[in-house]
Amino acid sequence: MGRSGIQKLHSRCGFRNYQATTREQKDALAKALDFYKGFNDSKGGFVFSGNVGTGKNHLATAIARGLIQQGKSVVIVTIAELAMRFRSCYEKDSPIKESELLEDLVGLDLLILDEIGVQKQANNDFEINLLNQLIDRRQLNLKPTGMLTNLNYQEMLKLLGNRIMDRQTCAGLWVSFTWQSYRSKKKSLAE
Ligand SMILES: Nc1ncnc2c1ncn2[C@@H]1O[C@H](COP(=O)(O)OP(=O)(O)OP(=O)(O)O)[C@@H](O)[C@H]1O
Ligand SMILES: [Mg+2]
Repeated sequence: MGRSGIQKLHSRCGFRNYQATTREQKDALAKALDFYKGFNDSKGGFVFSGNVGTGKNHLATAIARGLIQQGKSVVIVTIAELAMRFRSCYEKDSPIKESELLEDLVGLDLLILDEIGVQKQANNDFEINLLNQLIDRRQLNLKPTGMLTNLNYQEMLKLLGNRIMDRQTCAGLWVSFTWQSYRSKKKSLAE
């Protein structure tokens, strides 16, 4: 788990403890489980899109933990963290070259990009360029990429462009998380 990028908050997230009461939630859970079970046979990625606190990271972590247990290499990383890692490669005494980092990320069995669209303005070109390269290279290597975002399809299209989105969604899975935040639900139950 050390290298996976799974945060403490999500370290216990699995398919079994994802509470699905509505039809939509059951559908999201079933699709995430299907993606996990069919991982070896499919090369498409996934996009979990929707409201805050609805369990996008929860289900992505469930997929990641399951695959890691099977010995697969999986990393969950936010776009901000990714950009920071790449920027630090340009420092004089960086232990790793940009090309090596890219190679590393391209080689992962599953890369899950988190918080796409959170930093809408800052360093946009740099990040979009990075995503373009990464997703392109991963697709050429038949490696799937997962994406977690609060943006809807149109907003993703605007941010990432047709090229990335076409590749990401053609063989991939799109799940919309439209219900209210689990965080606020838990809070209101506690009150
Ligand atoms: N249906 C659910 N059953 C059990 N726990 C849930 C469920 N949905 C969310 N949670 C829990 O609520 C917290 C927030 O969920 P999570 O981090 O997955 O949200 P998110 O959709 O990624 O939100 P954001 O868009 O803000 O990043 C986590 O601790 C997660 O385990
Ligand atoms: Mg999240």
